[in-house]
Amino acid sequence: DIVYLNGDWVTGNNAKVSVFDRGFLFADGVYEVIPVYQRRPFLPELHIQRLQRSADAIGIAPITTEFWHQLVLDLINRNNLDDGLVYIQLTFGADSQRSHLPTQPLTPTIYASLSPLSVHWNTPKPVKVAVLEDIRWHRCDIKSISLLGNIMLKREAAKRGAIEPLLHRDGRITEGASCNYFMVKQGRLYTPPADHLILAGITRTWVIQLAQQLAIEVHEEALNVNELQHVDEVFLTSSSREVQPVGQIDDIIVGNGQCGTITAQIAEAFHASKR
Ligand code: PDD
Repeated sequence: DIVYLNGDWVTGNNAKVSVFDRGFLFADGVYEVIPVYQRRPFLPELHIQRLQRSADAIGIAPITTEFWHQLVLDLINRNNLDDGLVYIQLTFGADSQRSHLPTQPLTPTIYASLSPLSVHWNTPKPVKVAVLEDIRWHRCDIKSISLLGNIMLKREAAKRGAIEPLLHRDGRITEGASCNYFMVKQGRLYTPPADHLILAGITRTWVIQLAQQLAIEVHEEALNVNELQHVDEVFLTSSSREVQPVGQIDDIIVGNGQCGTITAQIAEAFHASKR
């Protein structure tokens, strides 16, 4: 595995970052995850645009779009993987000491890697998720490397035998720890709006477009956790899980516990769109 770190290409073990890096000390940075299918990045423009937005939101000076596109292509060329996930991390950089505000102008730290992807789309076995209160901050629209809230919630979900939490704030559904949610009710598709309380997933954006092409009505509306008893289908989306049916929410079996028809239709369309 050849990774990129601040202009160098080295093996993962040989990539070293300063203990004074603001990413290490303060999680002062942002990241991006981009799927690669058959050695081609999937929807790179949307991912790079979101990375630029996240960096801008926390005040890191802009880096050109061309740089990011070339970095993704170089990672694919230097690694022997057909399908994978590009990880890009951008932090404020390393200072000379720990200080909440930087003591001098810093050069951002840029790290990127390509790791294997294993999605078994043709056997989408429904998974279990657990309803939990969203304890994270109010800027979940920024893809921050500070994931403590997400990790704590993921651990709690795992304790309950679930692969992801299904988060809510005062009953309003938001998202998962690393995914977005969609619900099917009477043939209509519902997903929470892309406000500050969720990350606007690229898979989410793509699924909304695919659904519209399939003439499925999409409502960007947050459902209440009380309504989960009455939904016909639930699925989650992310770059790593693509379209993943949900068969169980805590003790509630969704539909008959199998992958629903609209979910299957969207998963199929998604898979077709990767080619
Ligand atoms: N997670 N919401 C959160 C909180 C996420 O972390 C992610 C992605 C998503 C889905 O976004 P997208 O469809 O663009 O992948 C939603 C990535 C995959 C991760 O943390 O590894």
